[in-house]
Amino acid sequence: MTDIHDLLEQDHRSVKNDLSKIGLTEGEGKTERAMLFGRVRSALKVHMDFEEKTFYPAAREATGMVDQVRDGVQEHREAKDLLAEISDLDQASNEWRDKVNDLAAALDHHIRDEEEKLFPRSREKLTADQKNAMGSDYQKLVDEAEATG
Ligand SMILES: [Fe+2]
Ligand SMILES: [Fe+2]
Repeated sequence: MTDIHDLLEQDHRSVKNDLSKIGLTEGEGKTERAMLFGRVRSALKVHMDFEEKTFYPAAREATGMVDQVRDGVQEHREAKDLLAEISDLDQASNEWRDKVNDLAAALDHHIRDEEEKLFPRSREKLTADQKNAMGSDYQKLVDEAEATG
């Protein structure tokens, strides 16, 4: 049994880690860029979908943090727009790397908001059953996404 917050925080760490690795790549490192960015994009998709459909509604209900959750959804939209823009750019270009750095900065802010504002309250207000049930539902989705690539 794993608390959903722990799983979401693990994702935050690994996405941040991959994004900072991308920041160190040169244009010639196309294969590495493609591998890291592909991993970030699929991790974020499963993560943000689950937050929006399942975790945020439950956290909002439990904490009453309506504004915080609304801002979170807005920040997800910005991240998705950046992901789409990045996907259209040439991976060997500096423009591509600069956009990835914009995404990293936007996510830093978003992750800090979640971990410092929403999560401490939702950890306290959601029941252990709710946290663990979301944790196992989420783990299933992650495993499925990994299996289908
Ligand atoms: Fe998150
Ligand atoms: Fe989020």
